[in-house]
Amino acid sequence: MSQPAIANTYEDFIKGFHPKSGLDLKFYKQNQMQRRILSFMNSHGHPTYPEFLKALNADPVLYDAFFKHLTINVSQFFRDATQWKTLRETIIPLLVKSRPSLKLWSAGCSSGQEPYSLAITMMEYFSASKFSILGTDIDVNVLKQAKDGVYKQNDFASTPPEFLQKYFTPSDKGQQIKESVKRQVTFQHQNLLTDRFQTDFDFIACRNVVIYFTEEAKEMLYKKFTDSLRPGGILFTGSTEHLFGLNHLGLKPVSSFFYQKQ
Ligand SMILES: C[S@@+](CC[C@H](N)C(=O)[O-])C[C@H]1O[C@@H](n2cnc3c(N)ncnc32)[C@H](O)[C@@H]1O
Repeated sequence: MSQPAIANTYEDFIKGFHPKSGLDLKFYKQNQMQRRILSFMNSHGHPTYPEFLKALNADPVLYDAFFKHLTINVSQFFRDATQWKTLRETIIPLLVKSRPSLKLWSAGCSSGQEPYSLAITMMEYFSASKFSILGTDIDVNVLKQAKDGVYKQNDFASTPPEFLQKYFTPSDKGQQIKESVKRQVTFQHQNLLTDRFQTDFDFIACRNVVIYFTEEAKEMLYKKFTDSLRPGGILFTGSTEHLFGLNHLGLKPVSSFFYQKQ
């Protein structure tokens, strides 16, 4: 049996963690990631990188908890209500005007709150338009939750109450998303930093995903997104994620946090 790599330093650790997880932490900011890793090691009683890597390889429950801790999958339906208003009043009308059918993608979709919010927006306000939605994430556990489609009260802090009644059914476990919404979304496992992207998207939401990425990784990712958009397509970023100095990618701001491919 192959032995896990000896990880004396942070660099050794990320090399040892990569083959098992597919997550190459060299694309993530070292200070923040190292701090997160060390805090997890401390709270779980693992004193050194080599011992911790060994424990991760031996204990799937510990591994899952650590992966979840690293990827930070907090989300919400209609997170940042102002931007969802702009989306529905300005951005989608712009897109449906020029296309009979829209191809939308929530990249880093966590447990599905974002792609389902897109589906609800389309069903509620643009029912005459055809659309398909892709939701992707690196974390298989959140994708499973997305496919189950059951949510807790705090997922709905920014959701208009009438949507809860119309698009969810209360159950013992929480609020179950209705089949009519579920069937509009396809979920796929994907690492944004290394996997190939589909093309011809009209709209890509990538929000609150790149916070820990290095500047080089962000630039590479925004270039890949631009290549995946059709001309006129829109990239929607998180509410702290301004794309300064990325004119060379051919993205023009159309509103705060919305960028259009030229
Ligand atoms: C904070 S959540 C954001 C969810 C949603 N976009 C939102 O804004 O509410 C970040 C998600 O990005 C995912 N993620 C992090 N790195 C990734 C990568 N390299 N490829 C794909 N997904 C990634 C995490 O697993 C997590 O579910």
